[in-house]
Amino acid sequence: MKNELQEILTNAWQLIVRGAADKKSPLRTPVIGTIGENATELRTVVLRKVWSKDRKIHIHTDIRSPKITELQANSILSFLFYHPKKQIQIRLKAQTNILNQDESCRQYWDNIPDFARQNYCTDLAPSTKIDEYSNGLTEDWQKHTEQGFVNFAIIESSVFELEYLKLGRDAHQRAIFNYQNENWIGSWMIP
Ligand SMILES: Cc1cc2nc3c(=O)[nH]c(=O)nc-3n(C[C@H](O)[C@H](O)[C@H](O)COP(=O)(O)O)c2cc1C
Repeated sequence: MKNELQEILTNAWQLIVRGAADKKSPLRTPVIGTIGENATELRTVVLRKVWSKDRKIHIHTDIRSPKITELQANSILSFLFYHPKKQIQIRLKAQTNILNQDESCRQYWDNIPDFARQNYCTDLAPSTKIDEYSNGLTEDWQKHTEQGFVNFAIIESSVFELEYLKLGRDAHQRAIFNYQNENWIGSWMIP
């Protein structure tokens, strides 16, 4: 791959890695897209961990949430990031694997503080319609946080496509990278 394309790919991954490590990074909360019944489903999530060399991204969610059902039907996940200061958009496509109640989930879970554990401790599944407002937690939810562990899931994404767009005053710069035969293949694109 040409040097300039290689630099772009390295730079893009650095930004994504920083998204998970730096709470102030604009790449911390990408939009992810799945294929729903009648439309594309989009939602904001938090990047939890990124391994650029292994092309892996971890997101945490509730195993009962609709995005999991959608990924079970079609396991390809799309990511959309935008860095407003740098005027860089990054789009990813990834193959996903859902982790639940395994050793890696246990490691994360043990480090999740109580206030964040409550996200996984609702009585009813996320997205269940209810008649009156409720945060979904029972009064004694803190006594049953092990149920939260059962609901806790990691969406593990293996990225196979990365598209980069940098807006410029004079010219925009756009490139696409595909992971094939254990290598990234890059190409410029018309912006
Ligand atoms: C800033 C922000 C961060 C969020 N982070 C997560 C997250 O890490 N995991 C998650 O499942 N939902 C997260 N959400 C909620 C999702 O956007 C979404 O509303 C929820 O997961 C339900 O999605 P679903 O019905 O498509 O499964 C976040 C929302 C916001 C606004």
